Amino acid sequence: MKVIFFDTDRETRDYFRRHKLPKGATAVFFPESIQDVPLEKLREHKDAEAISIFVYSRFTDNLLKLFPKLKLINTRATGYNNIDLPYCKKNKIAVANVVGYGETTVAEYAFGLLLDLTRKIGISNAKLKAGIVDVLGDTGHDINGKTVGVIGTGAIGRHFCKLAKGFGCTVLAYDLYKNEELEKTGVVKYVSLDTIYKKSDIISLHCNATADNYRFINEAVIAKMKKGVYIINTARGELIDTVALYKALKSGHVAGAGLDVIEHENILIKNDIDLALTKSYDSLLYSVINKMVVGLDNVIITPHIAFNSVEAKERIMASSLNTLIAFAEGKEFKSVCL
Ligand code: NAI
Repeated sequence: MKVIFFDTDRETRDYFRRHKLPKGATAVFFPESIQDVPLEKLREHKDAEAISIFVYSRFTDNLLKLFPKLKLINTRATGYNNIDLPYCKKNKIAVANVVGYGETTVAEYAFGLLLDLTRKIGISNAKLKAGIVDVLGDTGHDINGKTVGVIGTGAIGRHFCKLAKGFGCTVLAYDLYKNEELEKTGVVKYVSLDTIYKKSDIISLHCNATADNYRFINEAVIAKMKKGVYIINTARGELIDTVALYKALKSGHVAGAGLDVIEHENILIKNDIDLALTKSYDSLLYSVINKMVVGLDNVIITPHIAFNSVEAKERIMASSLNTLIAFAEGKEFKSVCL
């Protein structure tokens, strides 16, 4: 069996070299995302039966067709909206993600973004490092006593709700499926989306990105939110219409946004020359839009790193390794599409 790993840093490569795959399995490592590897290089590995990726790799039909023997895509992440599930289902390719590695890790990070945003910790820190001692200039807001709206109360959202409750907030929640336990124990009250928009001082997104909720935080929805609302997104960039958010942040209708994810976030890490060489209008357009958002004072943005703790990464790699071993040995593993 041949496994190709994409989106690998040194740590990932070392881990999968150290923790051996079953006998007879070979591993090939690319630091780049699959779409950034020249086609002729990919064709050298057309016998691959498994591919392991992180969130930056985006599959298109023509890339998947390069691997006729492909039977497994293992994503070293929870979300799998970067994988064409209908194609995989039709072609009997299993898609395995990592579940439950970082529910507290990501919830803590989302809360960190919120604290930094509302208390302007990063701004004060940057000022002081630049030699400016501004004691009263960056007045923030308390979190205690505020109403927090949480959209998506799965593994991560559930923990975020508990943190907000611990901070003395009223927690309103919306999910397609209620978590009865969370409501029974008095942590949240489930309400409609419109109630969340109308009543929340802080809104945090923790739902999966699907075709149904693509850019559901748009201009019309933001208009329903309280003036001065804070928005936190550690889920997926595709949930928010970036231009609508930018306009609302500029006007002050949204007081601030803490974003670990943003649509087309993969181009945040490409330089302008690489982008120009792609000759893609969309890439250039989103590069401009994303840079405008990054430049706003009331935005804290990080490059999809909420998962990035030592403890969570160990859990991710161990889970991916188990999936690859099970696959190589013909044992059962969980696929999200087969
Ligand atoms: P989960 O699957 O446990 O929970 C997602 C919840 O969202 C489910 O309860 C589901 O019913 C709900 N949901 C789906 N569509 C919805 C909709 N339209 N409206 C309201 N609720 C909806 O997933 P988990 O592990 O809690 O992850 C949540 C999000 O965080 C995912 O988007 C995932 O991709 C993202 N994530 C981000 C990370 C980062 O580093 N920034 C790391 C890990 C996950």
